[in-house]
Amino acid sequence: MNAAAGSTAWLAIESSCDESAVALFDPANGLAGEWVSSQIALHAEYGGVVPELAVREHLVGLPLLLAQARGHSLWPHIARVAVTAGPGLAGCLTLGVSAARAAGLALGCPIVPVNHLRGHAWSVFIPVHAADPGTYDERLRPLLPHAGLLVSGGNTVLFVVHEDLRIECLGSTIDDAAGEALDKGAKLLGLGYPGGPLVERLAREGDPRAFDFPRALPGRGDLDFSFSGLKTSLRYRAAGLGESEARRRRPDLCASYQAAVLDVLERKTGFAVEMTGARSLGLSGGVANNLALRTRLEGLAARHGIPFLPALPRHTGDNAGMIAFAAWTEHRQTLAAGAEPESVQIHPSLPLDRRP
Ligand code: KG4
Repeated sequence: MNAAAGSTAWLAIESSCDESAVALFDPANGLAGEWVSSQIALHAEYGGVVPELAVREHLVGLPLLLAQARGHSLWPHIARVAVTAGPGLAGCLTLGVSAARAAGLALGCPIVPVNHLRGHAWSVFIPVHAADPGTYDERLRPLLPHAGLLVSGGNTVLFVVHEDLRIECLGSTIDDAAGEALDKGAKLLGLGYPGGPLVERLAREGDPRAFDFPRALPGRGDLDFSFSGLKTSLRYRAAGLGESEARRRRPDLCASYQAAVLDVLERKTGFAVEMTGARSLGLSGGVANNLALRTRLEGLAARHGIPFLPALPRHTGDNAGMIAFAAWTEHRQTLAAGAEPESVQIHPSLPLDRRP
C-alpha cells in the first residue's frame, strides 16, 4: 500500500439501494464533504425501487460524485476507502464495491467494508464527534450504553451499543419494516411513493383515534416487531368504507394508521431503554424524519432523564457520511485495518450485529 505518509482521511462510498453517495472524513475535523445523488424520483414512477434501474443509475451517479470529491483538498490525504458491503441489493452493492476497489487501487489504499445498518446505528454520534470541548471518547463514554432505534424502508431494529462499542441486536421486524408498512399503507390509499412523508403530511389533518388499528404488542421482553397485520387491517378498513369515502377520510386513516405504527415503536423502544439501562437514546434511518416519531422518542428520553440523539436530517436517509464515520469508529483503534482492494466482497444479507 502506498497512500502518502501521514495521510489520515477516509473516502466513503454508499450504493446499497437507491442513493449513490460519496463522503470525505477527516478524523480531526469531521465530515469534510458529502455528495448524494438520489434516485427517488425515478423509482416513484414504479411505486418502489426497481433493482435493475437502481444499478444503472449508480453506474452513472458514482463516477460523477467521485469526480466531485476528487476536487476536494482532502483527496490527496486519503488513507482508507470505506464502502458499504451489505446489506442491500446485490447489483447495487457490487457497483459500490467495484468503485471502491478501483479507488483503492488508484490511491494505494486498503478498503474497509462497512455494514450499512451499523452506518445508521453510528450516525447519531456524528454530532457528538463534531461537538466541543473534549475528545470524542470523553464525550462518548457517558452516553454508553446507548439504546438505538433504526427505522428505514428495509429495516426496523432495536439495538444497544455497549461500553466496549459492541453492538447487540435486541429485536427486529419479523415481516415488514416500519417504513415499508407506511409505504404500503400509502399505496393502499392511493398516495404516492415514498409513502412515509405523505402519510405524515395527511396525518396532521386527521384524528389518530378515528380508526382502531391493531398494535402487535406482545410481552415486555419481546422486542421484535410485526406490521403485516396492521397493513391487512388497513386494506379491509379502506375496502369497507368504499372508494370515495376512503378517499374523503384519508387524513383520519393516515393519522390512525401512523399512530398504530408509532405506538409500537415508542412502546418497544421504552422497553429497550429500561432493559439496557441506557444512558442515551438514538433514532436513525429514513423514518427518523417523521416529526411525530421524533417528538415521541424525545419525550421518552426526557422521561428517563437521558439525552436524545436523533440522526441529523442529512444522515437519516442513505448517505456516505455515516459509512465513513462507522468505518472510522469501528477501526480507528487498529489503523492498519483494511483489506486489499481485490479481496473485498459483497454481503447482501447482513444482520446489524455482524461486521462484513
Ligand atoms: O433509510 P431509507 O432511505 O430506507 C432504506 O433505504 O431502507 O428510508 C426510506 C424510508 C421510506 O420507507 C420512507 O417512506 C420513510 O423512510 N420516510 C418516512 C419519512 N421520510 C422518509 N417515514 C415517515 N415519515 C417521514 N417523514
